[in-house]
Amino acid sequence: MNILILGGGGREHSLAWAVMQNPKCDRLIVAPGNAGIAEIADCATLDILDPGAVVVFAEENAIDFAIVGPEAPLAAGVGDRLRAAGIAVFGPSAAAAELEASKTFTKEICDACGAPTARWARFDEAAAAHAHIRAQGAPIVVKADGLAAGKGVTVAEDVDSACAAVDAALDAPGAAVVIEEFMAGEEASFFVLCDGEEVLPIGTAQDHKRVGEGDTGPNTGGMGAYSPAPVLTDAVAEAALDEIVRPVLAEMARRGTPYSGVLYAGLMIEAGRPRLVEFNVRFGDPECQALMMRLGAQALDLMHACAEGRLGEMRVNWADDHAMCVVLAAEGYPGAYAKGTVIGGLDTLPETSFEMMFHAGTACVSGRWTAAGGRVLNATGRGATLAEARDRAYALAEAVDWPEGRYRRDIGWRALGDD
Ligand code: AMP
Ligand code: GLY
Repeated sequence: MNILILGGGGREHSLAWAVMQNPKCDRLIVAPGNAGIAEIADCATLDILDPGAVVVFAEENAIDFAIVGPEAPLAAGVGDRLRAAGIAVFGPSAAAAELEASKTFTKEICDACGAPTARWARFDEAAAAHAHIRAQGAPIVVKADGLAAGKGVTVAEDVDSACAAVDAALDAPGAAVVIEEFMAGEEASFFVLCDGEEVLPIGTAQDHKRVGEGDTGPNTGGMGAYSPAPVLTDAVAEAALDEIVRPVLAEMARRGTPYSGVLYAGLMIEAGRPRLVEFNVRFGDPECQALMMRLGAQALDLMHACAEGRLGEMRVNWADDHAMCVVLAAEGYPGAYAKGTVIGGLDTLPETSFEMMFHAGTACVSGRWTAAGGRVLNATGRGATLAEARDRAYALAEAVDWPEGRYRRDIGWRALGDD
């Protein structure tokens, strides 16, 4: 099978790494890829937001199966166009990708099928939003509507900062905000594959969104993750499937936009009950790195069966294992940071099914590695226990010589306690 992966971050490096272990993969191209991915697969320059260009590229390269990493190409209709050209695609249609792109759409779907989530209201006018906030009180959550990559959310501790967040969000023409009830509890991520009909859970994870230790400082794309997430017990997962995932998928099918691909449900769990925070229509980054480390070569079979509507035949072959991914970021991230700083020690790291350094934003010129982004490296470890996975991930992180790099030392603190 000739496979194309779209994307170029640590998520896509881990997808490429898993795909390459499967003998069914004859050739792998990653577009655009990155310098780390280029060590294990062909990388190609391609505008992955241009559906026509992606189809031409896929046909020229006799691609049988395309795996879409980020949400933007899905929202742009790349998956639809590839499917129309007869190529199997892992990733939803643009219509189904609305589950991530539009908070309002997702809330309406939840209301239509009774899936538990925070109460909400949408405003495009500041005075009405302020009045609603004053009536509800704080804490309260303000979300810019539309694709904001997780950065358009303010969890406001008081009414004034909630109103200020509304003003900032409504600054642009045509902007709207969703104001939500604050949900207390512990967050965890639940990943399921869907082929339009069948649903197959493929793992749980917990991300660390804040930049600083002890979950302090500004939000980021994610500073580390581990899988499985102990708070997402089998009972909570069953409840999430029965009360959230299956009703939402049935509602999507009923509307004529069945969902196919990975559905990533961000859950808030309180007293053993899950409520939906948000959906993403792709793997999380860095959650994917931990999941791929655990799934290995079978990830390709699962994604391909998902794309071909054969999920009903599939089982996940679980090892009783744990994985952790620690993100190495450039100093200053998520604010301003320098690019081009030199990273040493990368060429002598162990690369096994228990430890992998995935690259998120590196460049390599004449054998010299440099930082080329905010989140730069993903030290990922696997083991029989979470502590073992953590020790392997941190051993990799410590073996890197990058004075301008930073990482949190406390990834997994919730699950590990004082261990
Ligand atoms: P979202 O982009 O919707 O995932 O929101 C980003 C983050 O804000 C989530 O991961 C939560 O930590 C937090 N958040 C969002 N909505 C709520 C809510 N209704 N109650 C509490 N926290 C929330
Ligand atoms: N790590 C969170 C995300 O990928 O959205």
